[in-house]
Amino acid sequence: MSDSTEPKPNATESTPQPTAQHVLDVDDLSDDELAAVLSTAAEFKQAHHANEPHAVLPNRTLGMLFEKPSTRTRLSFETGMTQLGGHAVFLGPDATHLDHGEPIPDTARVLSRYVDAVMARVFDHGALETMAANATVPVVNGLSDDAHPCQTLADLFTIYEEFGGFDDVTAAWVGDGNNVAQSFAVGCAMAGIDLTMATPEGYEPDDDVLARAADRGTAPAVVNDPEEAVADADVVYTDVWVSMGQEDEREAKLGDFAGFQVNDDLLAGAPDAAVMHCLPAHRGEEISHDALESERAIVWEQAENRMHTQKALLAHLLGAV
Ligand code: CP
Ligand code: NVA
Repeated sequence: MSDSTEPKPNATESTPQPTAQHVLDVDDLSDDELAAVLSTAAEFKQAHHANEPHAVLPNRTLGMLFEKPSTRTRLSFETGMTQLGGHAVFLGPDATHLDHGEPIPDTARVLSRYVDAVMARVFDHGALETMAANATVPVVNGLSDDAHPCQTLADLFTIYEEFGGFDDVTAAWVGDGNNVAQSFAVGCAMAGIDLTMATPEGYEPDDDVLARAADRGTAPAVVNDPEEAVADADVVYTDVWVSMGQEDEREAKLGDFAGFQVNDDLLAGAPDAAVMHCLPAHRGEEISHDALESERAIVWEQAENRMHTQKALLAHLLGAV
């Protein structure tokens, strides 16, 4: 989106004041809302697997804006809307006038006249904030450079399923402290999961994220030693070293992240840990082939759970459950 810095126009002159609840990061949900979304996700998952109808959003439409590629986010939202009896419209890069000069505030106001909710995947988190400030329907972050709350909902749900709750679960993050890690840190705080994060120096989560985590529970411990982070953890979670949009930094990052691969050697320090990854995975970089293909990897369940948790989120945001 070319003009994320476009000032918010005076919305009172031309449009109703926005009233929708937006989810730009996971702490836009209260603790009760998070619990409700996870509970509804469990109901939807059970219904989906039993082939029972649960079309609670008939005739509703989700607009999906993507500045970056996606496999899971697009498919899970799109199939999820179908299962809920609604429809999703995919708007890929270059599909709208956003990439040809139409300002974000105008786009947000027009989309709000057609669709019931917007999901957007963007580079600049500020573009989402501008969209949310001007939309009168819920705006959901489908990944920005700073946050990935929909991933965190699936991650928490997957941990809950694996351990039967969050009490006494200790998690380790190994790798880049950017978008997926940052939302996971806040989500763990909200859920009461004890998290230690190991990143190379200079790749730690932002201070404001740690402050927000502290605000909602306990801030994670942040270290620069993967072995320290994974020691006796129940969950070891990693993400790619080169995020979308960072392709030019590839060589530097491969050097910076040497020693941060999740592999059998590292996992020897957490013999019972489940291995998580948001995917896509780059075998031989952030995770070894063996670690990803091992029985302890719960990454495919994590991917499936994107659909169930996002369906639940949309149903709650649209007042259908
Ligand atoms: N984990 C995740 O968001 O995957 P996609 O990039 O395929 O959507
Ligand atoms: N950190 C990764 C997550 C992909 C789902 C990226 O931003 O590309």
